Amino acid sequence: MVQEFDKVGVVGLGAMGAGIAEVFARAGFNVIGVEIDQAAVDRGRSHMDKSLSRAVSKGKLTEEERSGIDARLTFTTSREDLADADFVVEAVPERMDVKKDVFADLDRICPPGTILATNTSSLSVTEIAALTGRPEKVVGLHFFNPAPVMKLVEVITTVSTGEETVDVVTEVAKRIGKTPVAVGDRAGFVANALLVPYINDAVRLYERGIATRAEIDAAAKKAADLPMGPLALADLVGLDVCLAVMDVLWEEYRDPRFTASPLLRRMVAAGQLGRKTGLGFHEGR
Ligand code: CAA
Repeated sequence: MVQEFDKVGVVGLGAMGAGIAEVFARAGFNVIGVEIDQAAVDRGRSHMDKSLSRAVSKGKLTEEERSGIDARLTFTTSREDLADADFVVEAVPERMDVKKDVFADLDRICPPGTILATNTSSLSVTEIAALTGRPEKVVGLHFFNPAPVMKLVEVITTVSTGEETVDVVTEVAKRIGKTPVAVGDRAGFVANALLVPYINDAVRLYERGIATRAEIDAAAKKAADLPMGPLALADLVGLDVCLAVMDVLWEEYRDPRFTASPLLRRMVAAGQLGRKTGLGFHEGR
């Protein structure tokens, strides 16, 4: 069935959506990227352009391969253009009302056989699936930032997901060069349930004056041989995303371990969201 896949829709071309669209196009799929207006389309395209140019300049892609990728990418501001999509990944902002609006449209527009995936990092896939007429064809497909680089994808199944859907999505994930891991629909899934409380703990250390931002990151990075420290990772992921995951973990388990650090909450309230706003733990400081 995967062999018949041709047209993949990606709704939302922010940092994650643009990366996801790039990954599918690089794997040979025809991709249609959807955004709300032309300015958002242009931002998404420029994100992809930069990433593809970097790959060319590093010799990871030839100019010819790049042209092929460009030819497979199209863009639109109308969700109706997904009427013939075989597979759709939603990567709009992390708000349930926004996701529900997209899924209601996708369910109406796409053929009944089209699998609909959400790239949510914290919201319930079950709740999103339940509002469609095809809950057996809805999954979470959770990419990690930066999507073109990180190998892991979590394939999140709900109590309603069909077995065939899981098989197809797992195969698609492999075809785009990722390592799929099947996880259930619980707060934080697996990776964020581990990673985000770790980031939150680092914010607490900083908040309590135990060490500087640079020292916390250097210690964690060297101790576990990680590519970056937890505060730099918070800047990369987005402090708003980290806070959303903490709040979802707290809501589900009411465990004090999952209480968001007050500093994290205040920085989000102040619009200091990390790389995306140019202000964060390290950004702009
Ligand atoms: N887009 C595309 N490619 C990128 C990129 C981006 N935004 N950023 C870096 N790259 C590529 C570079 O081109 C380079 O590729 P090659 O190896 O092919 O040359 C490679 O990544 C390494 O990049 P750099 O040498 O420039 O920089 P680096 O070595 O410092 O790596 C990093 C940067 C890839 C971000 C690395 O620091 C890293 O892996 N960090 C950890 C990221 C991580 O843990 N992400 C998960 C976050 S959790 C999450 O996303 C889930 C959620 O829901 C919150």
